[in-house]
Parts: sequence; C-alpha cells; structure tokens
Amino acid sequence: MRVQGNDDVWTEWKQLYVEAGLLERSDWTAVPISTPPTSLTETKRPFRVRQTFTVPSSGSRARLYITALGLYEAHLNGKRIGEDLLTPGWTSYYARIPYQTYDVTELLTPGENVLGAWVGEGWYAGTLGYHGGTKNIYGERIGLIAQLEVNGEVIAKTNEEWQWSYGSVISSEIYNGEEYDARLGDTDFADGDWEAVEALPFPSAKLFSSQAPTVRSVQTVKPVEIITTPSGKTVIDFGQNFGGVVKIVGTPPSSGVLVLRHAEVLEHGELGDRPLRYAKCTDTIRLSNRSVTGYSPKFTFHGFRYVEVTGWPGITLSDLEGVVMQSAMERAGTFECSHRLVNRLYENCVWSTMANTISVPTDCPQRDERLGWTGDICVFSPTMSYLFDTGGFMGEWLKDLAHDQNRLNGVVPIFVPDTGTDFSYPEAIWGDASVLTPWDTFTATADLHLLEKQYDSVKLWLSRGVLRDPHTGLWSREQDQLGDWLAPKAPPETPNMGPTDDHLVADAWLIHSTKTASKIARAIGRDDEADVFATTAEGLTEAFYREYVTAGGRLVSDTQTALALIIRYDIFPAPLNGAKSMYRQRFAQRLVHLVKRANWQVDTGFAGTPIILQTLAQIGAAEHAYRMLQAKECPSWLATVLLGATTIWERWDSMLSDGTINPGEMTSFNHYALGSVASFMHECVGGLRVVEGSGWKQVLVKPEPGGTITSAKTSHNSPLGVYAVDWRIDSGNIKVQVVVPPGGSAEVVIPGWPQGKREMKGSGTWSWEEAYNTPDFPPKVYEPHFAPVRPNEWVP
Ligand code: BGC
Repeated sequence: MRVQGNDDVWTEWKQLYVEAGLLERSDWTAVPISTPPTSLTETKRPFRVRQTFTVPSSGSRARLYITALGLYEAHLNGKRIGEDLLTPGWTSYYARIPYQTYDVTELLTPGENVLGAWVGEGWYAGTLGYHGGTKNIYGERIGLIAQLEVNGEVIAKTNEEWQWSYGSVISSEIYNGEEYDARLGDTDFADGDWEAVEALPFPSAKLFSSQAPTVRSVQTVKPVEIITTPSGKTVIDFGQNFGGVVKIVGTPPSSGVLVLRHAEVLEHGELGDRPLRYAKCTDTIRLSNRSVTGYSPKFTFHGFRYVEVTGWPGITLSDLEGVVMQSAMERAGTFECSHRLVNRLYENCVWSTMANTISVPTDCPQRDERLGWTGDICVFSPTMSYLFDTGGFMGEWLKDLAHDQNRLNGVVPIFVPDTGTDFSYPEAIWGDASVLTPWDTFTATADLHLLEKQYDSVKLWLSRGVLRDPHTGLWSREQDQLGDWLAPKAPPETPNMGPTDDHLVADAWLIHSTKTASKIARAIGRDDEADVFATTAEGLTEAFYREYVTAGGRLVSDTQTALALIIRYDIFPAPLNGAKSMYRQRFAQRLVHLVKRANWQVDTGFAGTPIILQTLAQIGAAEHAYRMLQAKECPSWLATVLLGATTIWERWDSMLSDGTINPGEMTSFNHYALGSVASFMHECVGGLRVVEGSGWKQVLVKPEPGGTITSAKTSHNSPLGVYAVDWRIDSGNIKVQVVVPPGGSAEVVIPGWPQGKREMKGSGTWSWEEAYNTPDFPPKVYEPHFAPVRPNEWVP
C-alpha cells in the first residue's frame, strides 16, 4: 500500500497485512455443544464447558473463533480471554450470529492447555419483552461454538469430547439479574462434576465477524454517598445514572446473602423500582469463605444510579464500583458552552447514548424492554452519529433491520432485532428508520456500500411496508399511529394521544422518507429511481395540502410539531403564484406565535423534539429557540436538569416536581430520544454542521449565538480527522476559531457578517474577530401582564 498527498508525492510502499476470519460455513469444523435438554419454562442455569488439549510449542499464531447460542465468557488456562462483555452480542439470530476472533497466542503454553467457557441464556433464550415476556425466542437450547487454530490448523474445537458442569452461577438473566453462590467454586474450570456434553445441530443462521464494536466496560463510576432511607434500608448512590453492573471491590462478610437491587431514582427517599415493571434488576450473592472481591455478574446489565444493599453491614463507599457498559464505539463529538445547566444537559445526552448502545440501539436500559425500538433511533441517529463513530454499530443493526423486515414482507418491525412476537404492524417514524437511519449513517461516514446494501430495504418499506390509502398514497386511515409519541400534553397512559394529528405526523414523515429515498438512489447512481421517488414525494405533498392545509395557510393541527415538521422537512407544494413562499412565511410566523403562547415551553414529543429548535433557528427565530432551551419550567430540558437528572428522561416529567414518579406505565429515566436537542447544540450553538450526504467532506460553520450563552465550542472527529469550532463574545467582539482537517472543507458564516457573506476554507486552523452586538434576550411575550414573573430565570 502507498498513499499520495496533495503535493502529488507518493509515500514509500508499505506491506499491508490483512487477516481473514472464518468466511464460509465449511471453515467451521466445531459444532455447538450444550447440556442435556432442560425445562422450557424455567430460567436456564448458566453452565461451563471445557476441553483439555495439547500444543506442541508456544509462540505460534493462535486464534480463537468463538460464539454462542446465548452468551459466553471464555477462559484459557484460567485466564479470561479478552475484555468483551455480553459476547457475542445481540443480532437477528434467526439469520446472523456474530462470532469473535481472539489472538490467544500469549495465553497458550506448550503441552497441556484447558479451554473453557461459561454459557448463559442471554437474549437468545432468556425472557424478552414486557408483560412477563417470552422465553426461548431464538432457540430452546443454548450452547457454545469455538474453534482454536494455531497457524491455521484447528487444534481444539467444540464437539462431543468436551465436558460440561454447572458452577457458581445459579441464574443470569438480562432483565432480572444474577444469582451467584460463592460456596460453589468454579476456578480454573476444574471444580465440580463434569459430564459429556451433547452436540447440537449447526445453526442455519450465518456466523459472521461483526463490524460493530463489542460491549465493554468503557468507564467506571465510584459511589458518592451511602444513604439510609426512611425505612432504614442502605442505598448506595453512584451519583450518575448509567447502564452496566456493580463490581465488588471490597470484602463483604463471609456468610449470609448479599442482595443488590438496582434502580434509577429514589421516590420519597426509597428505591423507586416501580418503573422497572417485571424486571427484577437484582443481583444476589450467597457468601462463603471464598472471596468475591472482583465479582461482577456475567450475563446481565442494569440501568441504575442507586443500589439498595442488604447483607453487608458497614459497607463503605470504596466497597463497590460501577462498571459502565457500552458497545465500545469511539467517542467522536464534544460540546461545551458558558451555561452550566446546558452543559449538564449535554452530558446527560451522552450518558443516555452510552446506556442505550449496549449491543443494539435501545429505548432504555432498565425496565422489561431494552429493545431496539426503531423509532427511537430514527429520531436520534443524527445526534448519535455526531457523538460517536456509529458506522459499524449502525451498519450491523441496519442489516438486521433489513433481514427482519424481509421476514415480515416489507413491514419494518417496531423493534430490531425482532423478537417474533406480535409487534409487526407498520408504523410511521419507527418504520422510517429503514430509510432515514441509513442516510444519517451515510452522512456521517460516507460509506456508500452501506447505502447500497440497505437500498432494497429502503424500497421495500416504501413499496410494501407502508400501509397506504389507495387514493392519495398517504398513510391509510385504518392504521393507528404512535404519532408525536410522548408529547407533553399526551395523557400519562396514552402517550400517542398528543395534540398533533397522528396521521399528519405519519404523512409528514412519509414525505420526508420518500425524499430521502430519492437522495439515497441518487447517491448510489440509480438516477431513474431517484426521479421516481422525487415525483412521488411531490404528489404526496399535494395530497398532504389537500388533507391538512387550508387555502389561507392554516394547518389542521395547529401545533409546534406539525409546523416544525413541514418547515424542517421542506414540505411545500411546487411554487404556484408565489404560494410556496406564502406558506413558508405563514407557517414560520405561526410557529413563533405558538412558541410564544406556550411561554417557550416545549410542546413536542418524539416527532417534533429533534427538530423544533433547529427549525426556529432556520426561520430566523433563534432567540426563541434559546429561550426554549434555557426555559426552566416543566416541560423543558432544563427542568429535568434542575430536578437532578443525570440522563435524558423518557418523559418531560418522568419525575414530578413533588418527588413522585410519573404514574404512567412508561416512565424511564434513560431514553435518548428527547436528547436529540444536542444536535441544536452542535449545529447552532457550537455552529458545526455536516453537509447532508457528504461524509464530513463538507461542513457548514455557522455559530448562532443567543440566550445568555457567551462562548461555546464543539468538535467532531470525522472520517477525515477533527473539525472544531470555538467562539467567544468579549467586549463587543466575537472571536471564532475553526479547525478543518486534511481533505475537509468548510463554508464559514461568522455572526454579525452582512447577509449572504460567507468564506470557503480548506484544511487548517482559521480565526476571525468581528464587532458583534449581542441580540436582545429574552424575547418579549405578547401580553406581559399575563406572563408569570420568574426571577433569576436566565442565570446560567
Ligand atoms: C418504548 C419506546 C418506544 C415505544 C413505542 C415504549 O415502550 O420504550 O421508546 O418507541 O414504546 O411504542
């Protein structure tokens, strides 16, 4: 390999070493191994398998290819192999089971070696779904498949010659947690009664080496406080809500039972576990003389900030540690500004992203769901792909989406991997993830191959998945929609019943998806099909106007969400006697009017929240966006921060101001969707925006200072390298510094420049200093005498 620079000079040749994994079914001579069949209604007890084998000499290239029907944790000669957790991860196991490859050269010794592994039920056969859930979704028997090769020659592989035994783990379930009995030893895969395993048929699903990073411990969190609750219980506060497990670092008593119950919040001083519904989220450790220092559960994770501890009198802050788990994507985006609460809101968004990227993009990490809800990622993926390098993670998940969608004849399941339950009805936004998320990922990565691979899924959703009205091509009125899910005015028990018409929401997304499909087709060179999608979108737009817009420019649903969707997704009919600009102007005025009337409180749910602030900025009403961002009364982002949120809540009022948990069934404290406001921080406050579909080859740098924020900086580590924007208002001037990586280009608009002025910049570090008048803030209400007086409202 060699590369050429801008100066046309070639580097020296370098040898590029490429190692392939097991590509074909025939490369696997190992077979899945398991215990004899167990009950189908009981939780499956994790078991161990092992095999002894000899290696003639060490120092050779040794690779372990390994996966499970379930989850595994592998050991070689008593040492844990790798650092990955919850392997092999969750995919659509019907079709695709990932395997991992480990370099085990250093762990092998000449002569006798012992390869062993724990196997647990995981997502494969453990309970998934709410109302008690379903077991054995992907298979009734769990097992291990492993093949160890030295210099390409198989020297150990799972087959009938292996042995199995139960060990100290009694149960380990994703939702319920782990039961561990320290009296039963399991060191070195030596203790216990070992019996011959049973071989299982090789799975029909393809074993593949995943592009997605595995789940790992990405950070540790130390407890900050030990609380004695009003009822006398001991609760450890980790100070941060996160997805992961607790690790014992101290020494608990040598007898009795240690119980760790996890929850996200306290309610009136006690562990608030009602939102967890059926999920027990409890680790139980039966203690003995055998040390449990270093113990953490194997095949579960929890979403929590608080842990109620029983069975450990005198526990101290240094006895436990929080292990933060996440698919180990690289962090790509940063943001910081002069407003303390906005910074905390941003951090909350990062934490919710971390907790909801444990193997798949999930709704929440704590209750009896933790499923790959497609609508949640559909609205959040632009934000997520700024925060993290999502290419591999989203690329693999989208393959599962396409697969599961094919099984359902074009309908995108509302969560992926689909669990084969009854949730396969077509839903706007949720199903639109099949079109919009590939485009967002392409925008972030420039991975054309991903678009090509997803294109059939894009077309299938629009041709067969969407249930249409045969006359208009819009969504069928027969189909219920989730609409602007969780809009603040929706009643707690019916989150789809917000004030915006659910069909209007669905149809706006349908038009947005159809236009995006056109862009996708264009990007991969399918120009004819791109034209068809564009024409279809125009027809749908006309039908949309007939259905929802009066001739004078009033909307059927007069709401923030409806107006923002139309403006942001550019849903305007073809210009006719200036009609386009009439609508544009009227909708923009109306949106500002409604925002003022709402006293700058958010009135949007899943559909409107990701775009409301950017839309206000786009129509030249950034001061209103800032006033909404900085508003402190519920519903608002900062209201949650002021109530102590350390993650993004599912509802604007997941916690009520009197310290009671929202009575709704769906009350998580860790859902990323409403955190999509971070995109406003990146794009408008920070001022760094990727040009759609460019894979960060082009950006727009356009900070739009406002509110009481006087400085901000943001950066994104793109496929080309780091872009950064840093601005500060100081004594009537604004200073802006911009960094553009090699191969990148930025269109720059500095605050205060005359309308239309812009500069194009290539790679390098660029600075400007301009005279700048801070805009008036806060914007005024119409009738000041009706407006509540809020002292100190704008103090950061
Ligand atoms: C999930 C949401 C999801 C919704 C759709 C909820 O239970 O937590 O995030 O998108 O259901 O019905």
